[in-house]
Amino acid sequence: MLDAGGQYCHLIARRVRELGVYADVMPSETPAAELEDRRGIIISGGPASVYEPGSPDVDPEIFSLGVPVLGICYGLQLMAHHIPGGKVIPGVKGEYGMAQLRVTEPDRLFEGFQAVSQVWMSHRDKVGEAPEDFVVTAETSTCAIAAMANDWRKLYGIQFHPEVVHTHGGKVILGNFLFGIAGCAQDWEPTRQLEEIEDGIRRTARGRNVFFFASGGVDSTVAFSLCLRALGKERVHAAYVDTGLMREGETEFVREAFTRLAGDSFEVVDAKAEFLGKLAGVVEPEAKRKIIGEEFVAVQERVLETGPFLNGRWILGQGTIYPDTIESGGTAKAEVIKTHHNRVAGIQSLIEAGRLVEPLSQLYKDEVRQVGRAIGLPDELLDRHPFPGPGLAIRCLCASEAKAARQVEDGWVLPVLSVGVQGDSRTYRGTLALESYSEGAFATATESINRLADVNRVVALVAGVAPLSEMRSYVCAIDAERLARLRRCDAIVRGMSLESGFEEKVWQFPVVLLPCGVEGRPDSVVLRPIDSVDGMTAQAVPMPEGLLARMAEGLLGVEGISAVFYDLTNKPPATIEWE
Ligand code: XMP
Repeated sequence: MLDAGGQYCHLIARRVRELGVYADVMPSETPAAELEDRRGIIISGGPASVYEPGSPDVDPEIFSLGVPVLGICYGLQLMAHHIPGGKVIPGVKGEYGMAQLRVTEPDRLFEGFQAVSQVWMSHRDKVGEAPEDFVVTAETSTCAIAAMANDWRKLYGIQFHPEVVHTHGGKVILGNFLFGIAGCAQDWEPTRQLEEIEDGIRRTARGRNVFFFASGGVDSTVAFSLCLRALGKERVHAAYVDTGLMREGETEFVREAFTRLAGDSFEVVDAKAEFLGKLAGVVEPEAKRKIIGEEFVAVQERVLETGPFLNGRWILGQGTIYPDTIESGGTAKAEVIKTHHNRVAGIQSLIEAGRLVEPLSQLYKDEVRQVGRAIGLPDELLDRHPFPGPGLAIRCLCASEAKAARQVEDGWVLPVLSVGVQGDSRTYRGTLALESYSEGAFATATESINRLADVNRVVALVAGVAPLSEMRSYVCAIDAERLARLRRCDAIVRGMSLESGFEEKVWQFPVVLLPCGVEGRPDSVVLRPIDSVDGMTAQAVPMPEGLLARMAEGLLGVEGISAVFYDLTNKPPATIEWE
């Protein structure tokens, strides 16, 4: 996989691996000489235009290696840009979303693919002229060259995205390229790597012991278990930092699970007072995040310094997985690049000193789960919803002024700001609250946001003790009382979600505390069930009405809660977390 900057690059590599073929992600500019021995090359999509100065490029020699190449979206345009006769033209309208693809010249890439089929498009520029000796093989109503090929040179390009589920038969196309054209063998199977991974752990450790900070999440748990298998209990130790920002029962759950895995080689570090102390009076979400990140590093450093751990006989173990490895390694060109928390300065120096072991660094999340299953870890550890590191702190909203809700045509704008993402940038705006819930409101949520400049989310009131006209925000930050309130609400929702089977139908289900209510009941709760593939985009999920009503009733029974809202907004324009 040559990464030309598309957010879909890893998704393509994952799909290829799902088909049983090993794929590496490399920078698009990788010299052709380094790619000579590959079975096939796929060039990903990307947000740039081939004409922009400094936009991602490929070594044009890759098209003359005799190695089969598949260019996807921007990858197709790079092909047309570099091979004589081809031409990329700026699109006037762009084409985003579903399109009907008509295969006009069926070739090996389209074998077994329907003549007319739904595909997912996301592009502005397009190929205006195919290079010499290329055949145009498919079209859509707005894109005359939606696919092109030079079968003899084994060069193929497609404008649509075969890696997303919205493209029907996308896997057929990837399979045709991998097996029919590139002659790959179906021999990649993550669980067969177990022996190699364990050998790798022993090689890296070289007689030293391994120390882990466990979070209870899937990755660190599987990485820790692999080290236990490779080195034995005497040589592996884990600490869990109790920040006080976790869900109800989480610390006990992790303590029990890890004690079962590792016995005495596990400890809980109580840092609740430090975290709460540092967060006192802080309202702004990014400030909260920064404090939590810094405090985490401080606690980690303290543990490492005071324990016997970093005396040369210990190295640090981490559950870093493949996309994180790539994104921190400098190859990724995806628009938003953040420093991964596994790559902070202190840890960077351990890497440089060769004192870090990351057994999962070549695997994707779903592959990590397969490996975890193969070594006998229980589903309750492997099938957990993702949970953000800063924990309930980003779901406990704060306010710096007391204000009333404001009436607008569609409902009320709540006097609380939350984070969203519109047009690739972060927003911090109000929330439109509808006076009642109806399933139809999902469809109009985004439209309302586009109309109201100071709003980035839409929620519906499900139940409350007072009308929206009486709701006010109040000055508050994170404190023990509000955290306890949120923890109780979250536990009620999670309990009902698990029991009803709804938990399995959603990717994540944040429960948020809003500083917005009435006298004696100062806060409200928001339910935020979403579906997603990787957290980059998300859809709000409709809930069964009976379950919604039961949850609302349970939540209004919690001390201090005045209303229950249901978030109807997709990401974008909102984000998954409220912050
Ligand atoms: P947003 O709110 O940006 O969230 O739509 C996308 C996904 O990322 C998770 N998230 C985090 N995960 N550390 C994490 O490990 C963090 O600081 C963090 N912040 C957000 C969020 O829960 C969602 O799944």
